[in-house]
Amino acid sequence: MTKRSLFVLLLATVLIACNEKKDPTEAKIDELISQMTLQEKIGQMNQLTGSGLSDDMKTQLKNGAVGSILNETDPEIVNELQRIAVEETRLGIPLIFARDVIHGFKTIFPIPLGQAASWNPEIAEEGAGISAIEATASGIRWTFAPMIDISRDPRWGRIAESLGEDPLLTSIMGAAMVRGFQGDDLSNPTSLAACAKHFAGYGAAEAGKDYNTTWIPETQLRDVYLPSFKAAVDAGAASFMCSFNDINGVPSSGNIHLNDDILRKEWGYDGVLVSDWASIEQMIPHGVVGDLKEAANLSLTAKVDMDMMGFAYVNHLEELVKEGKITEKQIDESVRNILRMKFRLGLFDNPYTKIPVISPFYSEDALAKARKAAVESTVLLKNDGILPIDAEKTKTIAVVGPMSDAPADQLGTWIFDGEPERSITPLMAIKSEYGSKFNIVSEKGLTHSRDKNEAGIAKAVSVAKNADIILFFAGEEAILSGEAHCLADISLPGAQTKMLEALKKTGKPVVIIIMSGRPNTIEKEVELSDAALLAFHGGTMAGPALADLIFGAEVPSGKLPVTIPKMVGQIPVYYAHKNTGRPAKDIVLIDSIPVGAGQTSLGNTSYHLDAGDKPLFPFGYGLSYTEFSYSTLKISKTKASMNEKIIVECDITNSGKYDAMEVVQLYVRDKVASLARPIRELKGFQKISLKAGETKNVKFELTSTELGFWNTDNKYITEPGEFQVWISKDSQSGEAGSFWLE
Ligand code: BGC
Repeated sequence: MTKRSLFVLLLATVLIACNEKKDPTEAKIDELISQMTLQEKIGQMNQLTGSGLSDDMKTQLKNGAVGSILNETDPEIVNELQRIAVEETRLGIPLIFARDVIHGFKTIFPIPLGQAASWNPEIAEEGAGISAIEATASGIRWTFAPMIDISRDPRWGRIAESLGEDPLLTSIMGAAMVRGFQGDDLSNPTSLAACAKHFAGYGAAEAGKDYNTTWIPETQLRDVYLPSFKAAVDAGAASFMCSFNDINGVPSSGNIHLNDDILRKEWGYDGVLVSDWASIEQMIPHGVVGDLKEAANLSLTAKVDMDMMGFAYVNHLEELVKEGKITEKQIDESVRNILRMKFRLGLFDNPYTKIPVISPFYSEDALAKARKAAVESTVLLKNDGILPIDAEKTKTIAVVGPMSDAPADQLGTWIFDGEPERSITPLMAIKSEYGSKFNIVSEKGLTHSRDKNEAGIAKAVSVAKNADIILFFAGEEAILSGEAHCLADISLPGAQTKMLEALKKTGKPVVIIIMSGRPNTIEKEVELSDAALLAFHGGTMAGPALADLIFGAEVPSGKLPVTIPKMVGQIPVYYAHKNTGRPAKDIVLIDSIPVGAGQTSLGNTSYHLDAGDKPLFPFGYGLSYTEFSYSTLKISKTKASMNEKIIVECDITNSGKYDAMEVVQLYVRDKVASLARPIRELKGFQKISLKAGETKNVKFELTSTELGFWNTDNKYITEPGEFQVWISKDSQSGEAGSFWLE
């Protein structure tokens, strides 16, 4: 080594050392760790569910055996537990209180799948911001959200909690939620630490059955299932949660490749990785470890920092260290991550919750934002000129159906703290806001979505037959989606379709409004209706929001974040599928096949005989009360080199009568690549407002990095060649342009 290089090396070492010193938090963490006993360290890695001020909890706290408590939401109790941790333990390390605040704490926003239908990151960010204000007032500083699992199977109950089927849409909406929960500064007492979950591949559960196995090739994992998690890291998500499933045989809580190679090493993540509820222990029934001790060993090796209700760490880590199977250094690594999150949250300086004198729940701002979110989360699927209601021609309106007045069900899944008594249902909103203008008649017909009692239908029909228009609020109860609530049949449950048929027979126009936790198979129902709105579970303010849309105070602007199949047998069905060697054409459906026709292998293509090749509604689809026309695409270059930007633009005109918003979508297809690529991939979107008659130019910038994919050598590459590009209303329409990358 020359003198000069030795000098440079020394200088670098000194600089690095200075830099390390400069980070006061890391220095404090080191100092604290140096004072901790092994048991105290393991205690930090233990997360328990709340049991109030039970003696058992108090003893465990005093022994330093708990690092975090979930599901304790009484701020007085939270403060008392915190006092024990801070004042009655040797080192006074504060606890962190966690809760599933998924789409609202008290003020409930639309389910995440609904929020994704807004294609408006501001909606997601605002909703998470309100959740943070409300939840932190109860002592919660850590939420287990956003859920950013790519979900391509509507049978899976947890699709409700997801942001849909697309990696880019999920990344953008998920990152917005992280920003909303965490705010500008995590140490602000009204900030909630976010948790990107479930890492990873959980949405690929076979047959849409919760907790089921997944088979995900590395290329697909990286192209489809990981980008939303990388986006969460980039957005600064304070924590990650393991998923329950195994990927290719390896459960996430013991997955060294996922948690260490990718999350820690490749992405440099320094937040907390928490297990899911008992997911460390569940590696025993998974069949990859023989007992809890082995489970603890594997999870720690796989860099899982905190054990949520699994009792593996608290019962076995000490023993494993003593036996030399794991090192204290490994434990220190996890403890460092946990303490870092506590420091980032400002808990050492400010451990207690300031209990507000004035209730922070259901503020005017929160309710207004929840209403706006529910408006933008609703997708108009069909409209034969019937919506919005024409006040001139309408006197009597019938409000019917099991979801018309279902305060708890409209809140959706994961609303531990939501209060149905604060819900405003469609019936309530229509009566209170439009009752003076119109004659509102109502009869639920079916008491709940699964109700099969047809006697109620007759009652509803007799009320509806004298109305000028029938509003049929259908869908699914909240309990039919969410964790472990999967369905093999996703048609509308109970006698809802029979009820719709009976309503149709009155000859009156019928609008179906579907309030559900998943896309249902609704081909027949849409056909029978004159207009159809998909509203998901819209939360506290679902009723006023739907009234706004139905009566034209607002114009629908939601677009589907997920494909709606015609029938279950089409699943998995998603827009970004491959072309196959025999893409669908010359479709002959089942009833057109001549009886006795012989088999031929000529001209066969890829589709179902009974469903064709298209879903009922594609990803990105959604109508408006106005019309939007798209001009021919302009592409800045027909040939571009890898380091050049390509500008793709288009003029959008609102040629209808209403001022409205449109979600303009950019799709790309890599025509020839070393691996077959999807027929379209979303590469950008913009939600724009256009006055009636107005035209706006919408520009997207594409770089070669966005045009790449993961190859079988585990490398992200962009290959030269032809790319098709669309600016369109949804994932199926639009004229393609093209350019070449050289
Ligand atoms: C779910 C998680 C949730 C956790 C704590 C688990 O069953 O999978 O999403 O955060 O429970 O409630």
